[in-house]
Amino acid sequence: MRDIGRTRQREVFTGGMRGERPRVPFEPTALESAAERALTAEAFAYLAGGAGTESTLRRNRAAFDDWSLIPRMLNDVAERDLSVELFGRTLPAPLLLAPIGVLELAHRDADIAVGRSAAKLGLPFIFSNQASVEMERVAEAMGEAPRWFQLYWSKSNELVESFVARAERAGCEAIVVTLDTTMLGWRTRDLDLAYLPFLRGKGIAQYLSDPVFRRLASSPPAAPDPGGVTLTALRNVLELARTHPRGFKALRSGEALAGVRTFIDIYSRPNLTWADLPFLRARTKLPILLKGILHAEDARRAVEEGMDGVIVSNHGGRQVDGATSALEALPRVVDAVQDEIPVLMDSGIRTGSDVLKALALGARAVLVGRPYAYGLAIAGEEGATEVLRNLLADLDLTAGLCGLGALRDLDRSILSQR
Ligand code: FNR
Repeated sequence: MRDIGRTRQREVFTGGMRGERPRVPFEPTALESAAERALTAEAFAYLAGGAGTESTLRRNRAAFDDWSLIPRMLNDVAERDLSVELFGRTLPAPLLLAPIGVLELAHRDADIAVGRSAAKLGLPFIFSNQASVEMERVAEAMGEAPRWFQLYWSKSNELVESFVARAERAGCEAIVVTLDTTMLGWRTRDLDLAYLPFLRGKGIAQYLSDPVFRRLASSPPAAPDPGGVTLTALRNVLELARTHPRGFKALRSGEALAGVRTFIDIYSRPNLTWADLPFLRARTKLPILLKGILHAEDARRAVEEGMDGVIVSNHGGRQVDGATSALEALPRVVDAVQDEIPVLMDSGIRTGSDVLKALALGARAVLVGRPYAYGLAIAGEEGATEVLRNLLADLDLTAGLCGLGALRDLDRSILSQR
């Protein structure tokens, strides 16, 4: 990570002298366009799209323009330290890879490729509950590199318990509970194309590989689950997995379709409340972070309920159209939490300057989402790695040019509000 900014510039410009051009565009909208060219219309819609008119998706970006950095001069910035402390681990930079489901839409190497990219750079990869590859295989591909697990709280508490136990065994260092997706948002691009990957059996590898899921799915229908829901849906999906081992590609019958639809209904629990959190707290010693927090009062409640961190996020504008941007919500959440637990943030992070602004507003670290998936779409593992290295290089240079020797020194005094 040392001097990564100038190292990356040198690589690119000397490569240019040999006639080489980078495969992955540097500018964020050009990156998105290159991914669009590499993908089917359905895959690109799923990755890029937001809810409704996509006003929150746009606002996530525009909010960064509401703040300006005020660079400081004549500080010695020959050495820049990007590292931050998080849950007792020193991260090489304040960046984690956001959980993104169904990465097989971007590239066949999916989570394995991204896990290797993250491991190479020492950045934690947050495994999605809707991953294309089960967590054990991705963990194996990552060696000792840091990873976390993101949980969607399904209607079966026993399944929740099993996912968390598996995550612990797979070496995950934190559990992220995503709260903002109790139902899928009104995603207009996906609706226009009438395309939802889960219906094709994509993005459900964590379930199909789970022993509790498998047992529940094959037990007699009468047995109610601790979550209070019959398990017909689970059974149907398992049956689909058995009859359509190549990922339900041949899915045709109405009965099978109904099974997967029901799966969509059970994958999260819309009646989840604060009262459910002690169940999880009692079952893991790992830090628990709540993802999707936007309101200061929810952030405060998270502290009071013994949570270890919050992630300010609107799911990349995919859930509530018209919701506040994550960056706007961040300072209020930071003030409410009063440094008692770390505040992380995602939704709209594209450049080094974005990272600095989020950190200056009080985020301990940020999650990068769509950009790495776009890199993956363009050039597989190398593409994802290139996107992440470019972001780190940009962060390193921009921090130095702002007069920052260490990111730990950042505070709001480097910002002015427009
Ligand atoms: C996501 N996100 C997400 N979040 C989560 O907790 N579990 C998941 O499985 C997914 N899946 C997912 C798929 C796709 C295609 C996208 C784009 C996003 C949300 C993700 O973790 C993060 O909050 C957003 O990606 C942040 O927005 P940007 O920066 O990518 O625009």
